[in-house]
Amino acid sequence: MPETVIIAARDSSKVILIIISPLDAAFIYSFLPSTTSTKLNNMVKAVVLGAAGGIGQPLALLLKANPLVTELGLFDIVNTPGVAADLSHISTPAKVEGYLPPDDGLKKALKGADIVVIPAGVPRKPGINAGIVKDLATGIATTAPKAFVLVISNPVNSTVPIVAEVFKKFGTFDPKRLFGVTTLDVVRASTFVAEIHGDLSLSKDVVVPVVGGHSGVTIVPLLSQSSHPLPASFAKEALDTLVNRIQFGGDEVVKAKSGAGSATLSMAYAGAEFAAKIIRALKGEKGIVAPSYVSVTADPTGGAALSKELGQELAFFSSNIELGSEGVAKINPLGKITEAEEVLVQAALPELIKNIETGVNYVTESYKTEEPRL
Ligand SMILES: NC(=O)c1ccc[n+]([C@@H]2O[C@H](COP(=O)([O-])OP(=O)(O)OC[C@H]3O[C@@H](n4cnc5c(N)ncnc54)[C@H](O)[C@@H]3O)[C@@H](O)[C@H]2O)c1
Repeated sequence: MPETVIIAARDSSKVILIIISPLDAAFIYSFLPSTTSTKLNNMVKAVVLGAAGGIGQPLALLLKANPLVTELGLFDIVNTPGVAADLSHISTPAKVEGYLPPDDGLKKALKGADIVVIPAGVPRKPGINAGIVKDLATGIATTAPKAFVLVISNPVNSTVPIVAEVFKKFGTFDPKRLFGVTTLDVVRASTFVAEIHGDLSLSKDVVVPVVGGHSGVTIVPLLSQSSHPLPASFAKEALDTLVNRIQFGGDEVVKAKSGAGSATLSMAYAGAEFAAKIIRALKGEKGIVAPSYVSVTADPTGGAALSKELGQELAFFSSNIELGSEGVAKINPLGKITEAEEVLVQAALPELIKNIETGVNYVTESYKTEEPRL
């Protein structure tokens, strides 16, 4: 503990230094609201729930490699002490700790979290994942209600509404801070378009907005808005094939892994990319835009404009989101799209509405027989 604390303030003409005792500093700090923006020393604590899994481990590795992360909390029902010990030897700033369920492990992992990423669950088992995500959301709502929550566990179209409903029960829902991670669709679109251009080195610069939701037909790539337009000679059949490949890219991986697993490494990359954008935004960087599946109430004006484009109001939708230090700063409209893309958007809506209802109903039904507590 230092003997004195120096508080520096600055206006346009002078710098003021106030020297106070640590006790007084603690007293003053206790009155500050506990938001990320008041956190001392620009520390960022990232937490991975499901950190020992196929996605969780490489995601934790990539977050450990992110120099902006200063603390990394890992939680899973198995193996997190080993994963944490392994990662803790990597020479980057983040202090790593792994927790299991006993002794309030979830609470300990979540304490002080700025950003929580959830890849916990069982691939292609939506019913089981609903319960897992509901329980983990309860932990976040009660321990780190101000954290940015990034949901990877499928089905994202339903698990994001589940997290929102849990947070509402605890009176802590801030729609600006909840994100469904759809980045893998965006990453796949960039890669496949670069392949078509015959130059994979382009893929890091190719930007294709992917909107709608995050499963099958709800995934709508807006290829007409690609930063690298498709060749003029690109036939309609080839375009249909490309759209289908982006929508069902996950199946390609499951098949190649002979059904023994789904996309984990590419998902971890995508999750870490999106998390890095959120961290840069919470540290004050402006103008970061990325697609994500969010509540349309996160930006009522942008949400209303989007609903007008869609012709109906959905509670959640993935569109280009401008990120700010408080989370969603702006929901961007779809903008100019082709007739074929409009057909895809309209085909996505009924499925999305059904998926959102499934998530909301799951939580409503659960709370009929249980108390909403951790
Ligand atoms: N959003 C996407 O684009 C995308 C892509 C691929 C997979 N996924 C989804 O991500 C999830 C994880 O996939 P995976 O391949 O890593 O699966 P996995 O089985 O390899 O890992 C899941 C991990 O979650 C853990 N877990 C289970 N219950 C838990 C609980 N209650 N609390 C904490 N951890 C718990 C397991 O122990 C395991 O380590 C699945 O739901 C999958 O469908 C999403």
